[in-house]
This record gives sequence, structure tokens and C-alpha cells, in this order.
Amino acid sequence: MKLIHLSDTHLLARRGETLYGLDPHARLAEAIDSVVRRHADAEACLVTGDLTDAGSDAACRDLAGLLARLPMPVHLLPGNHDDRTALLRHFPSMQRDAGGFLQGAVELSLGRLLLLDSVDAGRPQGCYCAARLDWLDGQLRRAERDDVPLWLALHHPPMDSGIVSMDRYGMPGERPRALAELLRPHAARIRHLFFGHVHRAFAGTWQGIGFSCTRSTCHQVALDLTREDEVPGSDEPAGYGVILADARQVIVHHQLIGPMEARFVL
Ligand SMILES: [Fe+2]
Repeated sequence: MKLIHLSDTHLLARRGETLYGLDPHARLAEAIDSVVRRHADAEACLVTGDLTDAGSDAACRDLAGLLARLPMPVHLLPGNHDDRTALLRHFPSMQRDAGGFLQGAVELSLGRLLLLDSVDAGRPQGCYCAARLDWLDGQLRRAERDDVPLWLALHHPPMDSGIVSMDRYGMPGERPRALAELLRPHAARIRHLFFGHVHRAFAGTWQGIGFSCTRSTCHQVALDLTREDEVPGSDEPAGYGVILADARQVIVHHQLIGPMEARFVL
């Protein structure tokens, strides 16, 4: 199974407008060109939130136009910069749970992908509240009954990354602990956890579950483990994840975008 993981596309309302000197629309177009050129055989593409920078209809419309160029099914998640109502206007097929959260399940060739909505509207921090935990509990029980492997995705990391300025905007309070406790008995069934929000690539294990965060297709966050006051940006290249998986293993590659894509023979 091959999957593409895009994140934090941060599209603006007006094309050509820039964010930290970068044009999010042009950067996403470049990422999509790269996926089409190199990874058109991927089974699905996952986009883990902050699809827009300010939730505007114009940005959602542009996003729909750009993503339509991808040849594989695309599964979207909201981030803290998005507006659920605007997303639903432009992506009416996004799944919703009974509480109105943009959560759902998608069947993949190697199991089931659960899309978790971690947005706490109006706040940059994430939240996975009791209602969402209930929904997830039902999905975990259903997966147990069906005996299928699970893949999980959400916008906010449920753990601290060590990048302290970004960890302030993570998932505070008791909720990550409740999420961890809910997932722990199912860890053997969960093949991988995908998220964005941190705008850089890192990976590890949490609760015995392998996870990866992918780069933003727009602006990056520096690897600064001490600065607390402001989030340090970085000129590092944009990119996206390319996941290769079979019954035995999960490999997460990071495809960079830009001039470094030029190749030569060693
Ligand atoms: Fe973001």
C-alpha cells in the first residue's frame, strides 16, 4: 500500500498573496505536481489539516481545484486554522459524526483509516473531547469485531514534540491522557498515526504506536528545542510524506519539494 501524506497547506483567500514570504497556493501546486509526477500510483492521499490559513471560502474553493488534479482519492481533516462549515460547503463528502465533528472511517487495502477531528474551534490548541472519545471507542470496538488493522490521522499531535514553542499549541490538559488510555489496549491493531500541525518532519513511537508528522507544503518550523516565547520559522524546504506499507512493515519517506528534486546518477 502506498499513501501520500500532505499537511498544513494554509491556502489564503487571495491567490498570489504570501505568508512569511511564501505563496501557499504556488507551493501546494508544486507539491501536487510532484505527487502526480512521482507517486500517481498511490492508493490515497491524506491531508492532515490547516488546509486554509483563515478558513475562507475562496481558499477552500482553490483547495478543491488544486486537489482535483490528484488521481487518487483524497481524505481531508480540519486543522485549527480551518472553519468546519466552510470546509463542508466545498467538500460535502467529508464525513461527520453525530456530534458534527469531521470524523469518519475510510477502507484501505491494508485496513481502515480513522480520521479524527482534533479542532477546538477558535483556539490554536487541539482537543479530543468526551464526545469524540465516545465515537472513537465505537470505531475501535468495530475494528476489533471486524478484525481489521487501523490507521489513525488527526491534525494535532497527542504528545509533546520537544519543540517547546509548538508544544504550547498542542493538546493540553487531561485529554491526551484519555486518548492514550483509550488507544493503549488497541495499540497492536494500530499500524500508524499521522498528524501535522508542527510544520516539520519527525517520527517516533507513542503508546507503542508508530507515528509521523510531515512537513507543511508552505512554511516550516525550525528545530529549536529551547525557545518558548515565539514559534521559530525556518527556510527549510517544503515536502510531504510517502508511506509504503505491507503486512510486515510501515516505511515513511519524506519527499522534499523544490530545486533539490533535481536528480543525478551516483
Ligand atoms: Fe499549520
